[in-house]
Amino acid sequence: MVIMGSLDGRVVLITGAGRGIGREEALFFAAEGAEVVVNDPGVAVDGTGGDAGVAAEVVEEITARGGRAVASTDSVADWDGARRMVETALRAFGDLHVVVNNATIERNAGLADLSEEDFDEVLAVKLKGTFAVTRWAARYWRDRFRAGVRADRAVVNTSSGSGLLNPLPAQASYAAGNAGIAALTVVAALELGRHGVRVNCVSPSMARTRLTLGVPGMSREPSATGFDPLHPAAVAPVAAYLASPACPFTGQVLSVRGGTVAVNHGWSLGGRIHKDGLWSVEELAEKVKELPVDDPFDELARALTGALGTTGRAGLQEMINALLDREAGPGTVSASGRPSGG
Ligand SMILES: NC(=O)c1ccc[n+]([C@@H]2O[C@H](COP(=O)([O-])OP(=O)(O)OC[C@H]3O[C@@H](n4cnc5c(N)ncnc54)[C@H](O)[C@@H]3O)[C@@H](O)[C@H]2O)c1
Repeated sequence: MVIMGSLDGRVVLITGAGRGIGREEALFFAAEGAEVVVNDPGVAVDGTGGDAGVAAEVVEEITARGGRAVASTDSVADWDGARRMVETALRAFGDLHVVVNNATIERNAGLADLSEEDFDEVLAVKLKGTFAVTRWAARYWRDRFRAGVRADRAVVNTSSGSGLLNPLPAQASYAAGNAGIAALTVVAALELGRHGVRVNCVSPSMARTRLTLGVPGMSREPSATGFDPLHPAAVAPVAAYLASPACPFTGQVLSVRGGTVAVNHGWSLGGRIHKDGLWSVEELAEKVKELPVDDPFDELARALTGALGTTGRAGLQEMINALLDREAGPGTVSASGRPSGG
């Protein structure tokens, strides 16, 4: 019997995949059939230091289980490093279908004590890093689309309850970065849709990683069924569902807390589904359909009709095309790793 994985044939780049939620995503995606670029420079929580062994260990674990993965130790905050990650995927696996932007650092302090450097460094990883990797992937995907290649591509961003539902005191930069990622998700969905790219976001909360070890309640015992809702593995199936070609969503933020998955509507939680256990991608594909979502194209078309006189979705797409085809920024990506002008 041939067992089909939900991500068979997909090449996936996951940032911050050496530890915590990203590590679980890398293992899960590989088990679902994806070829994975495990990106992680192995830095401390505050972004200092570095350890190439962190990404290498996850690659070893995946290959020991019969999967395919390569390591990348570049920083998402480094513009050329972000381009190199995309090129690593092309060189190792010949394509790139999915980017999971998961990397983060934290430097928490009260606003009146937060330094300029600490504010900038967190945003550089969380927000600019998400933009940088997405930008280079989008550049590659646009080139492929113009060359006539049609494929489902996906970006899965990572936000946080601290930023969307409950921005936390002492997290000015982290919360602002996470709110920015939700906005970036919608902008990218609106722009990249015409090239076959869906862009969504997971917003985890209460996953037991080094970021949350000091949070009260993190030592809670598993439920009666043995399911541990605090385990960082709870997020991976939701990210994998958003990454799978079976998922029709774009521009959505899905909050994940243990076995509970909800679709956000702006800064509020919408309808939710719950399982006292880990979801499978197939189960999610079936159950998430029940949840109402706001389509970002329909929303914007509605909002602009009065102001600009655009007529519906087709009119909106025409407007987006006219806007985006006006200019081209510099740089492209190639498997050879040589940057070239655009
Ligand atoms: N743990 C939670 O409960 C929780 C809640 C809300 C949101 N999140 C989000 O989930 C994601 C993962 O968090 P986590 O709890 O697993 O954290 P973690 O610290 O366990 O893992 C983050 C990884 O990102 C890597 N990283 C840091 N800077 C990087 C850079 N410049 N380039 C590439 N990689 C870099 C780190 O080395 C680390 O291995 C983050 O985006 C975080 O904001 C987590």
